[in-house]
Amino acid sequence: MPIRKLRISDIEALHRLLAEVSAEGEFLLRAEAPPIERMRALLLRALPLDLPQFIAEVEGELVGSIEVFPASFCRMEDALGEDFGLLGMQVKKAHRCRGLGGQLMEAALDQFRRLGMGRVELAVLKSNGPAIRLYERFAFRWVEDLPPCTLPNGRADTPQKMRLLLG
Ligand SMILES: CC(C)(COP(=O)(O)OP(=O)(O)OC[C@H]1O[C@@H](n2cnc3c(N)ncnc32)[C@H](O)[C@@H]1OP(=O)(O)O)[C@@H](O)C(=O)NCCC(=O)NCCS
Repeated sequence: MPIRKLRISDIEALHRLLAEVSAEGEFLLRAEAPPIERMRALLLRALPLDLPQFIAEVEGELVGSIEVFPASFCRMEDALGEDFGLLGMQVKKAHRCRGLGGQLMEAALDQFRRLGMGRVELAVLKSNGPAIRLYERFAFRWVEDLPPCTLPNGRADTPQKMRLLLG
């Protein structure tokens, strides 16, 4: 199985993956990856907590990743002060629709359940059919539409919030 836990030594390859997917301009709100030093600092904070952070590797190349951070990491707890997971994921264009996203999601949710948190949330663009299909397959449900946005490629879209409740 090409899925394994993220290591700090993956940081350059992970940054390249985020840069590549951001540069496509049609799935993420940003056109560039976050600065690598910010990513490294976040990762160093997250790794000792054993958070759900996995990568997909094909022939030694990092081609996909999934990360779930507690909302409290970004000071985004809900109105009741309850913490929850915020999920992000990406697979390199040439490796999509081969089941890697599903395998990454399985690994992340298994780990998330072990941590005992009750829910995971994410924001996805309404135009992103493959991502929405994947999230629905794992029982994520639509919660609300978020304010419309303009993507780096200039197209207008609307993100929606989706949520998975873990029993
Ligand atoms: C979302 C993403 C991570 C999924 O990774 P993946 O490896 O392609 O995922 P999988 O192959 O496991 O599943 C993709 C699903 O989309 C389906 N799909 C493909 N094209 C589709 C389309 N145009 N409309 C709807 N569903 C589509 C596939 O059939 C598959 O579903 P199935 O397994 O039920 O048949 C990947 O598409 C990606 O990186 N996209 C760009 C970044 C992104 O959108 N990240 C998420 C931001 S919220």
